[in-house]
Amino acid sequence: MEKGYGIEENEKAVSAAVENAAINGNGNTSFIKGERIKPYRSWPGKVSKLNIYGREMGFVTVEEKLAKSLTAESVELIPYLPYLLQDLWELGSSPRDILKMITKHILVSKETKVLDLACGKGAVSVNLAKELGCMVKGIDIIPEFIDFAVQKAQEFGVGELCEFLVGDITELVKTEKDYDIVILGAVGDVLGNAEETINLLKKTIKKGGYIIIDDAYGNDENNPQYPTREQWLAIFNKTGVKLIEDKIIEDDEIAGLNNEQQKWIIKRANELKEKFPEKAYLFDSYIQSQQTECIELENEISGVTMLLKAV
Ligand SMILES: C[S@@+](CC[C@H](N)C(=O)[O-])C[C@H]1O[C@@H](n2cnc3c(N)ncnc32)[C@H](O)[C@@H]1O
Repeated sequence: MEKGYGIEENEKAVSAAVENAAINGNGNTSFIKGERIKPYRSWPGKVSKLNIYGREMGFVTVEEKLAKSLTAESVELIPYLPYLLQDLWELGSSPRDILKMITKHILVSKETKVLDLACGKGAVSVNLAKELGCMVKGIDIIPEFIDFAVQKAQEFGVGELCEFLVGDITELVKTEKDYDIVILGAVGDVLGNAEETINLLKKTIKKGGYIIIDDAYGNDENNPQYPTREQWLAIFNKTGVKLIEDKIIEDDEIAGLNNEQQKWIIKRANELKEKFPEKAYLFDSYIQSQQTECIELENEISGVTMLLKAV
């Protein structure tokens, strides 16, 4: 086992981040025990038992949503996620697609402020700062991901432009304000359903600011979990945002990326199985849910990056 992946420490750190957020956010601890939500959609392919349980029971905790945002079926896997994902930098969104969209539609200067919510290991944040020279703040709940992002910002020479913070976006989204661009990349329903998410994101940006969401278009209008493009458009109308561009991720692009990422995840899962044989079921089910996600993304839904402007 390599240094820096103390599983027990991770467990404590994530719980502490969640607990801190709960304590600092309005002094309200209710979401530790389980906040009432109406699950509606999730990040592409993150259809898991957890999602189904969430719907049936009507309760999903921050930890459960966190697990789901990284395709883990159980919160038990959370402390192992930094180890399992140690070889990957990009965890969801394509920094290239986001960069292209911004460059095409938005005038960016060194005064431009970008908020990257649930930034993972900072792949999008660091690339934007490097290529556009703008200021970026990234927030994620997993401390190891934030450490990695800080290192990458230094490595890319943009340490001064990037600020990274460990925190719970369900709380911090309420206090972060006055950004020119906010990004929510591959985070699923952590902030609620599509309408709730857009309403929250809108409050973090200036008048006329931009929202970038990486999510999915469903192909069945009767499946509320994945709104179709038309249903998303209706939500944009209702929430007062305008779709400027959407880029659907091509199937072969997804398949290539998935195969590459799977290789690394399986390698690390096998190492964990050797080290913790009693938890083999946990790592096997992670590999399985990753594969299910790939199949879904390649067949049933279309991953999409959307650029929206508040009107
Ligand atoms: C699929 S990853 C996407 C990461 C990044 N946006 C990207 O596209 O590379 C989902 C991220 O959401 C983060 N996350 C989930 N729930 C969170 C919460 N309540 N607060 C902050 N981060 C959260 C996870 O730690 C994970 O890094």
